[in-house]
Amino acid sequence: TIKQKIDSLIKLMTIEEKVGQMNQYNGFWDVTGPAPKEGNAEKKYEHLRKGWVGSMLNVRGVKNVLAVQKIAVEETRLGIPLIFGFDVIHGYKTLSPIPLAEAASWDLEAIKKSASIAAAEASASGINWTFGPMVDISRDARWGRVMEGAGEDPFLGSKIAEARITGFQGNDLSQVNTIAACAKHFAGYGFSESGREYNTVDIGMSTLHNIVLPPFKAAVDSGVRTLMNSFNEINGVPVTGSSYLQRDILKGKWNFDGFVISDWASIGEMISWGHAKDKREAAKIAVTAGSDMDMESNTYIEELAQLVKDGFIDEKLLDDAVSRILRVKFELGLFEDPYKYCVETREKETIGNPKHHEAVLDMAKKSIVLLKNENNLLPLKKEGQNIALIGALAADKNSPLGSWCIASDDNTAVSVLEGMQAYENNSLVYNKGTDVSLGKTTFVKEVKINTSDKSEFNDAIQAAKKADVVVMVLGEHGFQSGEGRSRTNLQLPGVQQELLEAIHEVNPNIVLVLNNGRPLAITWADEHIPAIVEAWQLGTQTGHAVAQVLYGDYNPSGKLPMTFPRNVGQVPIYYNYKNTGRPVDKDNNVFWSHYIDVNNTPLYPFGYGLSYTRFEYSSLKLNGSSFSLGEEISVSVDIKNIGKRDGKEVVQLYIRDLFGSITRPVKELKGFELVNIKAGETKTIQFTLNKETLGFYNNESEYVIEPGDFKVFVGGSSAETVEADFELK
Ligand code: IFM
Repeated sequence: TIKQKIDSLIKLMTIEEKVGQMNQYNGFWDVTGPAPKEGNAEKKYEHLRKGWVGSMLNVRGVKNVLAVQKIAVEETRLGIPLIFGFDVIHGYKTLSPIPLAEAASWDLEAIKKSASIAAAEASASGINWTFGPMVDISRDARWGRVMEGAGEDPFLGSKIAEARITGFQGNDLSQVNTIAACAKHFAGYGFSESGREYNTVDIGMSTLHNIVLPPFKAAVDSGVRTLMNSFNEINGVPVTGSSYLQRDILKGKWNFDGFVISDWASIGEMISWGHAKDKREAAKIAVTAGSDMDMESNTYIEELAQLVKDGFIDEKLLDDAVSRILRVKFELGLFEDPYKYCVETREKETIGNPKHHEAVLDMAKKSIVLLKNENNLLPLKKEGQNIALIGALAADKNSPLGSWCIASDDNTAVSVLEGMQAYENNSLVYNKGTDVSLGKTTFVKEVKINTSDKSEFNDAIQAAKKADVVVMVLGEHGFQSGEGRSRTNLQLPGVQQELLEAIHEVNPNIVLVLNNGRPLAITWADEHIPAIVEAWQLGTQTGHAVAQVLYGDYNPSGKLPMTFPRNVGQVPIYYNYKNTGRPVDKDNNVFWSHYIDVNNTPLYPFGYGLSYTRFEYSSLKLNGSSFSLGEEISVSVDIKNIGKRDGKEVVQLYIRDLFGSITRPVKELKGFELVNIKAGETKTIQFTLNKETLGFYNNESEYVIEPGDFKVFVGGSSAETVEADFELK
């Protein structure tokens, strides 16, 4: 068995070799050439040869992976193969939409397919392991990394985590087209105070267990092989050093048998947090807490062996970490054939395969959310309309790739301009109006949000004057969200808002196509612009996806996975909030939970999205009104397509547990289903509620179901539902 193989290998290993397995290095140089003098590449080569490295990240491409793997296998004493990790976040070379956009599809099959394509391309390029999916729940659009997650809801987030993990890992990790997944960042990173990257996290037990942890639990239940911990602290303890999270919950309660990797240098960063006094203490805290592999802080390789020899930590801790790491290497088949992922012909055939382009186009269309469509301005006419296309992002071929596109080539996205040009019988004039382009090289550099340059406004205004319809592509460049890209302002960056208003003055017939990696506060646009399409950053096939929706060849069905605020002051804003003791204005006075300058309601709620047709919900029925605790509850609802086109609806089911020993949110998503409905047709959809969906975690982290009164809501958005009541006895 694998266990016997692991045990016998561990018996042969020196302490240094064990620590080596727990050490991951970044390969920042051209690994097929000599190591550069600067940096510590020479030392890394030396460690590789000694068997002091268990994994490399950012070494990719068959030639490179092969060169490094050969050192580990052929030059070290035990020949243990390396595991090669890489951030395959929304595709490898052929890119899918950013993960937040994919989440807007609510289409688990499509999301799984997208992850499987990413896995096929990455594994063909020698990669064994992705640092994804990010399953962090976040309620704060200021945090730039919301683009990498599935939004604000733990139920949707759990389903998407499962879909992504099964897409990456397949049924058998040893197949050459699969890679090990990594659920990150364990845990709480999405709750960074004030949305500022790497900031303190201070949340209560109820939020931790009911909101933050469920997608991680779902990831473990679906067989994820690794987890990554995170940069943040929770309630005063950096999570890299948290035994509660890693030992008690993950490896204890949840019985996780894969391994945990630190985030980049997060073990060493416990010194800056003021939790460990030096690297030695940081290494000791992290390994004791259950962090199995050190990503690039060098603390394990420098300190662990001596800590064992000095008797400060038990060698058994090393054995546990190493056996977890070796297990995943065995499962990947690396011991059987360490070069099985290094076949140049497969690499050539797989990467950029036309079938992958078809699939990411399909995913991109499914990710688009129609936010507004007054007077049926959309779809555009395929003939006889003069269209002015305005905005620098409309012609940009880098921005749509989105953040985390390291393995893709520059300027390889189909731009919106190109996508619209593919529809030939319409007259299209393009004008950028203003700049937002940043270029791909800015990935690790500080992002400057735009210019104040209005010198090109006039040309755009002239073009708009002559047009029947103006399509404006505005928003964030792909590198204005992602890691290290927190914002305090959620409006259109730079002078784009002014450009929008200037164009609106001469021609209000505007279709606004939003590009963004996070919810934006576009209140003015919502009040003045007749049609708004949320197009995120949709990856390699962006332009074709957007054009097919604009021209009506695809009827949009996406729904927001994250609430859009009216302004940044409402953040954090989310649909599953608590009622408070003063939820409504009873006596026309000020003493209720509200703002005096803006409504409590969001601009666009969670679950919201329109279609070119309309759906009507009726006849919500339950198979009773009173149920005993273990009983299953059936819920059915009729949905009629009352428009003129066939369409797809994401039917959402929410509950409210009216009274709890721990107060419950006003709504909680507990089911959803995608349903195609022909024009004029009515479909009946069934849901089941059971003990998995009716309970919650109390502050002792126990899952409980409490008797009492419940409400059930079904609709096409969290804010527009039909409802019924029931009682649990
Ligand atoms: O995987 C990432 C992580 O999400 C953020 N820090 C760096 C890691 C490796 O690139």
